[in-house]
Amino acid sequence: MEIPSYVKHERLKQWVKEIAALTKPDSVYWCDGSEKEYDEMCETMVRTGTFKRLDPKKRPNSFLALSDPSDVARVEDRTFICSRRRQDAGPTNNWVDPKEMKVTLNKLFDGSMVGRTMYVIPFSMGPLGSKIAHIGVEISDSPYVVTNMRIMTRMGKAVYDVLGEHGDFVPCIHSVGMPLTGGMKDVAWPCNKDHKYIVHFPEEHSIWSFGSGYGGNALLGKKCFALRIASSMARDEGWLAEHMLILGVESPDGQKTYVAAAFPSACGKTNFAMLIPPKSFSGWKVTTVGDDIAWIKPGHDGRLHAINPEAGYFGVAPGTSEKTNPNAMAAITKNTIFTNVALTEDGDVWWEGMTKEPPAKLTDWQGNPWTPESGKKAAHPNARFTAPAHQCPCIDKDWENPNGVPISAFIFGGRRSTTIPLITQAINWNFGVYMAATMGSETTAAAVGATGEVRRDPFAMLPFAGYHMGDYFNHWLKIGREIYNPPRIFNVNWFRKDAQGNFLWPGFSDNMRVLKWIVERVHGQAFAIESPIGWMPRYEDMDFTGWHDISQEQFYELMAIDKELWKKEILSHEELFIKLYDRLPKEFMLMRDMLLSQLWRSPEKWEMAPEF
Ligand code: GTP
Ligand code: SPV
Ligand code: MN
Repeated sequence: MEIPSYVKHERLKQWVKEIAALTKPDSVYWCDGSEKEYDEMCETMVRTGTFKRLDPKKRPNSFLALSDPSDVARVEDRTFICSRRRQDAGPTNNWVDPKEMKVTLNKLFDGSMVGRTMYVIPFSMGPLGSKIAHIGVEISDSPYVVTNMRIMTRMGKAVYDVLGEHGDFVPCIHSVGMPLTGGMKDVAWPCNKDHKYIVHFPEEHSIWSFGSGYGGNALLGKKCFALRIASSMARDEGWLAEHMLILGVESPDGQKTYVAAAFPSACGKTNFAMLIPPKSFSGWKVTTVGDDIAWIKPGHDGRLHAINPEAGYFGVAPGTSEKTNPNAMAAITKNTIFTNVALTEDGDVWWEGMTKEPPAKLTDWQGNPWTPESGKKAAHPNARFTAPAHQCPCIDKDWENPNGVPISAFIFGGRRSTTIPLITQAINWNFGVYMAATMGSETTAAAVGATGEVRRDPFAMLPFAGYHMGDYFNHWLKIGREIYNPPRIFNVNWFRKDAQGNFLWPGFSDNMRVLKWIVERVHGQAFAIESPIGWMPRYEDMDFTGWHDISQEQFYELMAIDKELWKKEILSHEELFIKLYDRLPKEFMLMRDMLLSQLWRSPEKWEMAPEF
């Protein structure tokens, strides 16, 4: 194996040799991250059938990949946190003894790259060389992973300069788990249908992923490193690694406010991060720092400062349109990799919700002819685009600032058709932590399994917390005690429905109306009344300018608190608490009782009556 002279890190070289000896690839390739290398790899994948080049006029330098139908999303039941002690992974994570898991992995990876090239991918999460950035090196036998990692992270040989001879890095090992033994022919989307393992060793900060080539299963800088391993580093070091978008709001008088928001997978982070205010909000501007992950650290000013560790968007395609998210549409006009969307006859892409009328003829995400009469989806519901962040027209000027941006508010929100009001503000940090910890959401296509069921998804981190969820709650409470000026905490729900199943709230750019109230609350500029579950705006506290048909009744329907439903809600908090009993913050029981007593004394259906 020839190692490039610019790699000076002995431990890294040794590790690559060891993994090559185990996985037995035909060759080892050290990625330099150059454009030439990227172009060549795309070209190779076009030849092997993994990529289809889209029409260069319609979608310059862009490609379509169709995955195996069995490999379309994160596999939560195959994701493991292998801490030394089972208790440290906690009851919300799958756990196997690390020694035992290593035996399993060694068997699986033995010869797993036969007939393939092993790529060595150096990357930085966060701006290269910044104090808050961290380095990883992913070994993968998937060229699809290499090209995606080049968009999603700062990838390339400059990483070795930062790493030097002794720098720290997170070793990430990935194999699609389909060796080409006995001259076997490759397929367009190799994966292993029988065995999938997404494994984290939090104490040694290492990651092993086997059997899947899709998204968070395979792009190991993202969920595996920037959330699971980083959250466990963050707990030890006093910071936060969160499943959050970061956005900036500029008011007409030039006041800039940054907020971070945690919504579960496929619940609107990308859309909210790139929001365009309604026309009537002249002078208001929203800018994007990140759309999925935030690393947040206490600063010397007593505030929390956030960076986006990623360099690209791995966004949900279905539902993205010129109407719902024009900024995302602009970001994906070129240099984009599309996965599991449909192909148009003229070599462009399409997905459900992109246009009102579907094209008459398409090739669907499984490569079959499709017409609107086919009766199935043309794009997979978890189809995604991978696009460079700087291509987003509303990218924030400080999105690469190594010091991050100061956060004034945290927003939490699940996908709930009932129970949860459009907007509430927690009465203080601790109650905010309680609200975030007990958040529920209907499951989506972002993970394999049933969709549409309400489950508790604390902080939108259920699949991403790299340690015991009870410890995670305590860590949040501790951060609140340690910072001088903690962000205000809000809870939103864009997804409430009426009895007929229609969304009560139009969402998308109208979410600006809620965001404006949040920003004004942060600066002490907006009024709120006390409800049984927190502070709430009245109808007249909301800016409905340019929108004449929302009545007071409609708004209060969105904000109503139904006592019976809330009793059930609190019972499901209780289920979570029992699960986490041994490490649950002692404050939570008191806060649950406070909440209950507030509800107890309120009417069956608490609504803001006009006399308020
Ligand atoms: P991950 O990348 O999976 O972490 O998710 P994300 O939170 O970035 O998801 P994204 O923004 O791509 O969410 C996409 C889904 O949310 C689509 O089904 C959208 O139609 C829906 N969505 C986004 N914003 C809104 C909204 O304001 N209202 C409603 N009703 N749906 C929304
Ligand atoms: C999510 O599921 O929350 C994602 C997509 O952001 S993936 O990277 O596949 O996890
Ligand atoms: Mn996500």
